[in-house]
Amino acid sequence: EQTDSFFEAVGGEETFQRLVHRFYEGVVEDPLLRPLYPEDDLDGAEERLRMFLVQYWGGPNDYSQQRGHPRLRMRHAPFVIGEPQRDAWLKHMGDAVQTLDLPPEQEKRLWDYLVYAAHSMINA
Ligand code: HEM
Repeated sequence: EQTDSFFEAVGGEETFQRLVHRFYEGVVEDPLLRPLYPEDDLDGAEERLRMFLVQYWGGPNDYSQQRGHPRLRMRHAPFVIGEPQRDAWLKHMGDAVQTLDLPPEQEKRLWDYLVYAAHSMINA
């Protein structure tokens, strides 16, 4: 049920907006990751990641309406993602998660998922 979702529990749309915005502030400064992302559509990339995470955690399903089935491994196939890229991605995401100041249990649940998902995206 929508009202019981993790999405609602952590603060809804605003929380994911903050999370992903902060994450991309890190990406912009990162010489390893920045070249992987679209040169002039970082706002679009930010929106896609936000919509995905919102939907994953039980919020509105705008992601699938606009993008279809996530198929995340397939969508990442064009990018070389080895351990250095994964670790850089997780570093910025970790910084972003911490700025949310979530209760420890919620923070752990969110972080455990992100770590797992990032490990599963390795393709090189
Ligand atoms: C898209 C890199 C991990 C979710 C992208 C894009 C890049 C990228 C370069 C294209 C940006 C765009 O135009 O949308 C990476 C790297 C990762 C990583 C280097 C390191 C492990 C993850 C993880 C998730 C994720 C763990 C999910 C929890 C997404 C989503 C998109 C995306 C939802 C947009 C897909 C679409 O609809 O086209 N990623 N990613 N990524 N990434 Fe990642």
